[in-house]
Amino acid sequence: QVSWKLEDHPSLPKGKTIALIVLDGWGEYEPDEYNCIHVAQTPTMDSLKQGAPDKWRLIRAHGKAVGLPTEDDMGNSEVGHNALGAGRIFAQGAKLVDLALASGKIYEGEGFKYISECFEKGTLHLIGLLSDGGVHSRLDQVQLLLKGASERGAKRIRVHILTDGRDVLDGSSVGFVETLENDLAKLRENGVDARIASGGGRMYVTMDRYENDWDVVKRGWDAQVLGEAPHKFTNAVEAVKKLRESANDQYLAPFVIVDENQKAVGPILDGDAVVTFNFRADRMVMLAKALEYQDFDKFDRVRVPKIRYAGMLQYDGELKLPSQYLVSPPEIDRTSGEYLVHNDVRTFACSETVKFGHVTFFWNGNRSGCFNPEMEEYVEIPSDVGITFNVQPKMKALEIGEKARDAILSRKFDQVRVNIPNGDMVGHTGDIQATVVACKAADEAVKMITDAIEQVGGIYVVTADHGNAEDMVKRNKSGQPLHDKNGNLQILTSHTCQPVPIAIGGPGLAAGVRFRNDVPDGGLANVAATVMNLHGYVAPSDYEPTLIEAVNN
Ligand code: 3PG
Ligand code: CO
Repeated sequence: QVSWKLEDHPSLPKGKTIALIVLDGWGEYEPDEYNCIHVAQTPTMDSLKQGAPDKWRLIRAHGKAVGLPTEDDMGNSEVGHNALGAGRIFAQGAKLVDLALASGKIYEGEGFKYISECFEKGTLHLIGLLSDGGVHSRLDQVQLLLKGASERGAKRIRVHILTDGRDVLDGSSVGFVETLENDLAKLRENGVDARIASGGGRMYVTMDRYENDWDVVKRGWDAQVLGEAPHKFTNAVEAVKKLRESANDQYLAPFVIVDENQKAVGPILDGDAVVTFNFRADRMVMLAKALEYQDFDKFDRVRVPKIRYAGMLQYDGELKLPSQYLVSPPEIDRTSGEYLVHNDVRTFACSETVKFGHVTFFWNGNRSGCFNPEMEEYVEIPSDVGITFNVQPKMKALEIGEKARDAILSRKFDQVRVNIPNGDMVGHTGDIQATVVACKAADEAVKMITDAIEQVGGIYVVTADHGNAEDMVKRNKSGQPLHDKNGNLQILTSHTCQPVPIAIGGPGLAAGVRFRNDVPDGGLANVAATVMNLHGYVAPSDYEPTLIEAVNN
């Protein structure tokens, strides 16, 4: 039985309107030409920085501070927003899968038993992102799963790959496919009929999110399930090399692998087992719906095979989707959002589609929907569909700013929470000039929101979920940009391990409130308690400590 009532803060008042702004992909790094935040005009964020150390500081947003396996793991939006919303650090999917594989528990659970009943007569299909990015999936986990499943009776295995180039360097897909082909060849030597069956670039095939564009999922379905794609190859390494001539890894066209008679080697058929091996939910849950739901009208599935399907994790605990899974997801309970609705804090949350679930679903511990619709309003601004965001780097920053401003001025809400996507979404394209434009637009949106806070006498908290736009090149250990063998700069499309800023301010911030100096290792998980304080409450005792103190002067 959870006691939802929060204790009153001894000195901070209630009833202030708080804007909670999360800049996606906005880290802190040395100023140079590849730091798009530095290059861009960002007067609002620059002026917040002037408030250091009392009103501006850096916090950790990667590695163990957000529940990832190692300090080499860059941050990402899932774990970042989970930590921001939950106020505690949970071992995340990447780590939980590692543990389950290492202990062998993954093979003892119900999910594996369920799929393994197909091994005798059917094929085991593995679908997911093929890279070592560690954001949605990890190649070494796939390798262990292939080995483990074949040792436990899988005789025919088909892998449906999605190439990355977003959490890892563009062009690295070829190497990952070669590695996988090697492993599959070894399995074949041991009598397992194991092959790559289909593929495509993650942003064009399968891995859409928040129902932005179902065509993406359909393209994957056609290749993976129906065995149909515009491109047919007999070899996956060749396929990726050839398709890279007209697109980068993220956007490779869908392809199927065919035999000498041009017949697809691995459509998904009745009696087969399917595992989606991504541990992260947002970009797999749409396919999970297509695989699992009887009633489904998002696109014409043409043929719906009778399969046994399991996710690497359960992707949505509220929807119980998928119903079977190999590893239990982190149990992120008692999030700050749930506490706040029980303590009369009325919340407004907004972003555009591509980040909407970040400030809602991830924020609330991977839970769909509101806790209490009477206390909360979630607004999604439709993202542009079918473009890469470097051609539209301003995205919907202005619209998000306007919605937040209106929500603040309406005085109907105590917390107005937004995610401003530009630094991240444009940063992932690797287009440096566009990312500079993106950062400027994000800064303008912050200004719009902090101006509204000025008008209502409120408080703002501005932070970010992880780094991205502040460093757009791969560097050596001493920080020099790296070049590939043709002398081209190695563009970093991925997130970084940099810390992120957090700033507090606004006319409603009580005099004497400042950042403490005794939480030097503070991270994203410390933000929830901080915000609860600003709402006039003390955070639950097991939350990571607040970053602020109120000194009498
Ligand atoms: C993506 O899914 O776009 C990237 O892999 C990670 O980006 P995000 O963590 O910022 O969403
Ligand atoms: Co990102």
